[in-house]
Amino acid sequence: MDLYKELVNGPGYAVCPIENMQLFKKLRDSFIDKMNISIKSEKNINAVRKAMAKMSLSEINRTRINLNAIDTLSDMIIDSCPSLVETLCGKELFIQRRAHIIFNVPGEKHLRIWNHYEMISGISPFTYVLWAPLHDLEDDGGAYLIDQKSSLEIMKKEEVAGLVNGPTVLNMMGKQKPARLKFGQAVVFNPFVLHGNVPFNSKFARIACNVRFQSYNKPLLHKNSDYLKFYRLT
Ligand SMILES: [Fe+2]
Repeated sequence: MDLYKELVNGPGYAVCPIENMQLFKKLRDSFIDKMNISIKSEKNINAVRKAMAKMSLSEINRTRINLNAIDTLSDMIIDSCPSLVETLCGKELFIQRRAHIIFNVPGEKHLRIWNHYEMISGISPFTYVLWAPLHDLEDDGGAYLIDQKSSLEIMKKEEVAGLVNGPTVLNMMGKQKPARLKFGQAVVFNPFVLHGNVPFNSKFARIACNVRFQSYNKPLLHKNSDYLKFYRLT
């Protein structure tokens, strides 16, 4: 598979294996430690997911803020997939200063990540997103992606109608089927493909991490050094 072609001329996204599982497991362990959730002295990702599914909205918000203390998260995600990143952007990079660990909590009352594309948040068109779950995805808690051709057609229609994220885009959510990735798989996508979550039922929350990266030699857009940092792959 020619990853660059897949991402630039093809569907705009690709599923890839995590290259350094030892490091990626370390990332997951740092997350579990930070969560400080222990059930019968057993500390594992499913125990955290189960506890998270029952958290109140304020507990979820507090947890999100606490997780910002893991300041090596961006480096760890990038270093888990060095060949993939180098293939797309070379060794000298701008990477998101603070990568995200994101939860999708089951049940209707929780806010969905509605259908969107990354360009809308002011990152450059040369940016890619690497998204990976911290466990197998066995339900609809994952993310769906809409291929680049369909995404661009929808955006062009919106442009003609003078809309940004109008009803066509927002109503697409209901029909989507999130990908069922395994722990050890990641999805990389360009900033033009529409993606989001759907409501789902489960005893477990979904936990994933993501980071944005681009070549150091490509122009930036609105996001600058507040959001990005220089990073050199070894
Ligand atoms: Fe997104």
